[in-house]
Amino acid sequence: MRNKTRGKTMHHTITLLPGDGIGPEVTAATVKVIEATGVKVGWEEYQAGMEVAIKYGTAVPDDVINAILRNGIALKGPITTPIGSGIPSANVALRKRLNLYANVRPCRTLAGVKSRFENVDLVVIRENSEDLYSGLEHIVVPGVVESLKIITETASLRIGKYAFQYAAHNRRKRVTAVHKANIMKLADGLFLECIRRAHRDYPEIEYDEMIVDNCCQQLVMRPENFDVMVMENLYGDILSDLCSGLVGGLGLTPSSNIGEGGIAMFEAVHGSAPDIAGRNLANPIALILSGAMMLEHLQEGGAAHRIRRAVDIVLQEGSLMTGDLGGTATTTEMTDAIIASL
Ligand code: NAI
Repeated sequence: MRNKTRGKTMHHTITLLPGDGIGPEVTAATVKVIEATGVKVGWEEYQAGMEVAIKYGTAVPDDVINAILRNGIALKGPITTPIGSGIPSANVALRKRLNLYANVRPCRTLAGVKSRFENVDLVVIRENSEDLYSGLEHIVVPGVVESLKIITETASLRIGKYAFQYAAHNRRKRVTAVHKANIMKLADGLFLECIRRAHRDYPEIEYDEMIVDNCCQQLVMRPENFDVMVMENLYGDILSDLCSGLVGGLGLTPSSNIGEGGIAMFEAVHGSAPDIAGRNLANPIALILSGAMMLEHLQEGGAAHRIRRAVDIVLQEGSLMTGDLGGTATTTEMTDAIIASL
């Protein structure tokens, strides 16, 4: 499944999964921007997803997993998952098989981008390994389906510790645990109890709790009040898209998937956007900012900072916007403008 190795002098070898839909377009843009920073990177390119599943019987073949384990780091474009039937999600499979338990999704107001709010600067930390994404579903009798929500003490404590560690490391003041323990008293009750236990080691960080439905309302009324938020898998999936909308949309928000021992995979929050795929219309910024998160993880903070500043300059200047931001710029034009501003 390996396609090609790009780059000669390698400082960091990164597994590249271009994905499908707009994936190949936004990953090519991100590779170009990262290379323009001068950081020495070698790319090992692999494919995963539906086409691979048709050929090899699995959407995520072992050599993809082995490459990411070997390199410890991956940059990934979105991968389409059929709705309702068909192959299981390659995205969920990657996160599970690599044990990428923490999904970190920062959302901040970007000057120059029209949105309803100012001063949004929050981070959603989503537990990535269990909950309703366990894939345990079955038909009990025709017309009745059971879908299992799994919450464990181990995974909940692990994500709680990660959230407080992240807050301490990034000079954040508060962590909010988001839950529905008023209804799911056992499952979400266990999750909350674990987050409270994790907080005991970080008394300097403020801690509060919010029921998920109220949290949605507070987010769309006063998003500037939020700091770090930690939650189970499904709530995190939904709320992080909501948070993208607070700062201008899915074309702008990056993410990382963090596992044990420093292993990490970086991808945009958005999906494969089949409605605009292959037309040079996708906004590459979400994946470019994911690339900046990746460089920071690789101790290349200077290059990460330059990329973020270049994105800010282009957006603030305002003459070049992709369709999702109300403009007419192509993926290529946006990428070239960011490179010119580095
Ligand atoms: P989506 O995020 O692909 O698209 C939602 C809307 O946002 C569409 O109108 C799309 O054109 C727009 N959009 C998304 N990214 C954009 C970008 N970079 N620039 C400009 N506009 C952008 O969500 P949707 O349509 O629900 O899912 C499509 C497919 O993607 C599904 O098969 C889904 O399973 C998959 N998906 C994959 C993810 C991943 O690989 N991590 C994450 C989310 C969805």
